[in-house]
Amino acid sequence: MKKFSILIAGGGSTFTPGIILMLLDNLDKFPIRQIKMYDNDTERQAKIGDACAILLKERAPEIEFSYSTKPEEAFTDIDFVMAHIRVGKYPMRELDEKIPLKHGVVGQETCGPGGVAYGMRSIGGVIELIDYMEKYSPNAWMLNYSNPAAIVAEATRRLKPNSKVLNICDMPIGIEVRMAEILGLDSRKDMDIMYYGLNHFGWWKSIKDKAGNDLMPILKEHVAKHGYVEKKGDSQHTDASWCDTFAKAKDVFAIDPTTLPNTYLKYYLFPDYVVEHSNKEYTRANEVMDGREKFVFGECDKIVKNKTSNNTELHIDEHASYIVDLARAIAFNTKEKMLLIVENNGAIVNFDPTAMVEIPCIVGNAGPEPLVIGAIPQFQKGLMEQQVSVEKLTVEAWIEGSYQKLWQALTMSKTVPSASIAKAILDDLIEANKGYWPELK
Ligand code: NAD
Ligand code: G6P
Ligand code: MN
Repeated sequence: MKKFSILIAGGGSTFTPGIILMLLDNLDKFPIRQIKMYDNDTERQAKIGDACAILLKERAPEIEFSYSTKPEEAFTDIDFVMAHIRVGKYPMRELDEKIPLKHGVVGQETCGPGGVAYGMRSIGGVIELIDYMEKYSPNAWMLNYSNPAAIVAEATRRLKPNSKVLNICDMPIGIEVRMAEILGLDSRKDMDIMYYGLNHFGWWKSIKDKAGNDLMPILKEHVAKHGYVEKKGDSQHTDASWCDTFAKAKDVFAIDPTTLPNTYLKYYLFPDYVVEHSNKEYTRANEVMDGREKFVFGECDKIVKNKTSNNTELHIDEHASYIVDLARAIAFNTKEKMLLIVENNGAIVNFDPTAMVEIPCIVGNAGPEPLVIGAIPQFQKGLMEQQVSVEKLTVEAWIEGSYQKLWQALTMSKTVPSASIAKAILDDLIEANKGYWPELK
């Protein structure tokens, strides 16, 4: 079997060690000859990189490893770029969450004004990664899960239509893991699903077992009572705020009991509840900085200090194995059915053909072939039209440097109650994002 060369872009991410451990756990399915890391923050990446160097030397010495902040060094001789950058890092995420909250509006990483602000920072960063990839490894594919994926995906559609970039999200996977546990199945892969929507904005319309039996009734009974709360769950999504999100899915489900919802819909359908239950002084960014970031960097420091990864508490991010599934699908033409964020192009027949939608695709060596969804109900269609307009207007605002379009984008968001509040938030966001956003006129 061919052995692949991988670049992790955003090497300093809190997810990098878990993903490297996951890759090592899957070498029989996806052989690797080289892992490189790239980041634009030398110091942050070195902390993770030095620990990963020790870990790889101990657990897979045959794999070549290096990390760099130099694009040419990092992007040369690469088959797959796994991209998870966060432009502005956690301090800017904190502002994305706290600025809208100050105005009584949902403060969230990818939904509402926070997502728009993050999108305006991410577009340039992700496009730059694509340029480096195409310059130094023109045959490579990028598996991108840098957020906000909906806006980033629309930007890649507009600005890099012919690039080999696949945009993907782990939230449906995380929820499907819970569904499988609710159903008593060994794996989420024992379910055959149909799902449609935008990223962080979608619904399961059918879930069957491999024999074709409908599993929706059992799941609906559970979700109507408990949301997606169940005993185990993956390790990323177990903090208090996430538990609340999984429980709230019960109320989201009640609005349309013909489908099962993505948890992120709570921000759009219950924004008043979300704001009431937010702490304006301590948001998810603070929870992550005090939790995951301290833990991962602390463990990496220990590895470097002890000169060994024996006894480290860093663990495999098993739920990230969808990244290996995707790379395998491209590399070995597996034709696996996966949810990807792709141009609609008629798959949802009564929806904008140019919208970037999250739908099942058959993935092979030529890329994704989207499955036909058919017509969607008025409720979902109406919500999606409003939200996709937020995403498209944000990308247009970035391309044109247009204040007007960004004001329209924020006004259009279901999380924002009026154009005047949209303007007040926008003016604060512009101030906070100086140096990250293009100048708006
Ligand atoms: P993090 O801040 O720990 O890591 C991000 C890294 O990106 C940092 O080391 C930073 O220096 C680097 N970076 C920022 N701008 C860069 C640029 N222009 N070029 C190169 N490197 C750059 O963040 P995290 O919490 O570990 O998350 C990483 C990313 O993965 C975020 O975008 C997050 O939203 C995303 N994510 C997506 C999914 C999904 O489902 N799509 C799931 C989990 C995380
Ligand atoms: C889910 C989403 C990601 C998002 C992450 C945030 O996994 O699919 O898109 O980045 O949650 O998690 P965090 O722990 O950083 O709040
Ligand atoms: Mn996501």
